[in-house]
Amino acid sequence: MLTKKQTQVLDFIKKYMAEHSYAPSLDEIKRKFKLASVSTAHYYISKLQDAGFLNKEHNQPRAVSTVEAKQTVEIPILGAIAAGQPIEAIEIPDETITITRDEIGKQGKHYALRVQGSSMIDEGIFDGDIVVIRKQEVAENGQTVVAVIDDNQATLKKLYRENGKFRLQPANPTLFPIYRDEVEVRGVVVKIIRNLESQLDQGQSRDEKYVRKIDYSWDYRGEKTKSYTHGIHTYPAMFIPQVGRRLLETYSKKGDTVCDIFCGSGTALVESRLIGRNAYGIDLNPLAIFLAKAKTTPINPQKLTKEYIALLTRVEKIKDNEIKRPDFKNIDFWFKDKVIVKLAKLKKAIREIKDETIQNFLMVAFSETVRYSSNTKTGEFKLVRVKGEKLEKHDPDVLGIFRKNAEKNIAGMSDFYKDAKKDSWTKIIYSDSSRDNGIKANSIDCIITSPPYGDSRTTVAYGQFSRLSAQWIDVFGDPNDASGVDNDLLGGRASKNLTHVLSSDYLKESLEKIAKQDEARARDVLSFNIGLNECLKRAHRILKPGKYFCLVVGNRLVKQVRIPTDFIIAELAKKIGFTCEDIIVRNIPGKRMPIKNSPTNIVGALEETMNKESIVVLRKN
Ligand SMILES: C[S@@+](CC[C@H](N)C(=O)[O-])C[C@H]1O[C@@H](n2cnc3c(N)ncnc32)[C@H](O)[C@@H]1O
Repeated sequence: MLTKKQTQVLDFIKKYMAEHSYAPSLDEIKRKFKLASVSTAHYYISKLQDAGFLNKEHNQPRAVSTVEAKQTVEIPILGAIAAGQPIEAIEIPDETITITRDEIGKQGKHYALRVQGSSMIDEGIFDGDIVVIRKQEVAENGQTVVAVIDDNQATLKKLYRENGKFRLQPANPTLFPIYRDEVEVRGVVVKIIRNLESQLDQGQSRDEKYVRKIDYSWDYRGEKTKSYTHGIHTYPAMFIPQVGRRLLETYSKKGDTVCDIFCGSGTALVESRLIGRNAYGIDLNPLAIFLAKAKTTPINPQKLTKEYIALLTRVEKIKDNEIKRPDFKNIDFWFKDKVIVKLAKLKKAIREIKDETIQNFLMVAFSETVRYSSNTKTGEFKLVRVKGEKLEKHDPDVLGIFRKNAEKNIAGMSDFYKDAKKDSWTKIIYSDSSRDNGIKANSIDCIITSPPYGDSRTTVAYGQFSRLSAQWIDVFGDPNDASGVDNDLLGGRASKNLTHVLSSDYLKESLEKIAKQDEARARDVLSFNIGLNECLKRAHRILKPGKYFCLVVGNRLVKQVRIPTDFIIAELAKKIGFTCEDIIVRNIPGKRMPIKNSPTNIVGALEETMNKESIVVLRKN
């Protein structure tokens, strides 16, 4: 299934290859079609690969080749369909789209419609998409259909038959269903074509200094995010691996040295290793460093399994009087006594493993066991204790939790060990990215990162999330130091006043609006941005000229003021010596971060904070 633009790109590649015997580079495709960025060119290539028109080779700029054309069909686009209020069903055949036969099946007649409205977003059907419909007059319960009601009003909805009536159900929790005695079905949806071109165009008319381009192809809704070692420990606001990989493939090449200056649990570093990039990772949270190291260090799965089995035998034999209870503040508040004993036995058995990398790897499963067997609500990032009856009944199967996690992790490591590139390296540095971290000036080919959304107190408390695990696994000399992490992270200490020299009009405007309501919150925001500006300066120093720096950022809401962090970064970066080449907006389908909070500080008053994020692409001048 190819859109007009995709067909044009394919034709260009075919023609180019006939003339040169090799494929055009992403940059050549970008220039030929006047695309905003190479990432858009990459998007077209991956669409052509997914649809089977190009071979998937090494993901290198010129490593594409055309395949023999598959059997294709041309399908008429008959007009628009409302995914919202029904609109009059008028069929005006205008254009056609080309689709491979495999994609829609051999049976039936098909037509296509352009979608208007947002009532089907939870089914992955967005305003501007094209849906391919197989003509039929009946549908099964739950199928997404073209339904005509009220004498020629057409709408796209899920159809249910209930108590002798029809329910047309929107896939959008904010909208109500439509009930009718009669519904005429004109077909069922068999294929959705995301219309990237129209979404890219939407952003162009904004009256802003910078343009945000909505690009649903970056959502990766429903895709597996826990492959390899990605699934071995939760961490707040993790990258979607597909986003990390796409940025790496678009803005760096095999053998390059890349860096994630806020590496967290190391998602971008794992991806770097899988596609042959050397990578530095920097973070100021010791638990993050521990996780990132374990996730990126390949270990022979046979050796690992052998040690794991031996560990299970050993742990059963450890007596209560052989263990050492950890000594940190409030341990009895967060753990029941018998849980402490079981955890301490497990820890002792893991510490007896001689091979340090294997010991650390199994310690990661232990760290998750600490989290799940503690008295905390595990669905929260902040430390919140369960209460009442729930706490009384809390009787975690400590060894069972450990086994489940360890076995899942070993399976992930087996895949990683097999596919990690042997000639690439990963170095993880515990450091503050706003300061000198020892990486040489002009030495990095690409920086890919996702900074915190704001200070830890009012956004994600990375330190608090990590505290109990960090205290158990001894990443601090004194475990009581674990409670200080959040103060050291970006924005951890509020600025004393609102005076600053940052060159960003967007920041100035946001600060003024917030300060009118709450001066202290404005100082928090300022402190975060001062720290971020220092990080941008450091990043500029280590990056080679002409190379890319990609930041995945959220525009958070403070006191009902939406802070345009993406635009602020673009402004700050300009002053430092970067050019902002692109701002792409993606939906956050399943990221573990607070989607709702109470910016008004009124209990129960929920307001959406973030379900979208921006990818800011900077280039060092
Ligand atoms: C959004 S998270 C990164 C998550 C990561 N992409 C992943 O997939 O796990 C941001 C990270 O920035 C780190 N951080 C905050 N301030 C920092 C600073 N000044 N220097 C280095 N790291 C910092 C936090 O500890 C946190 O791990």
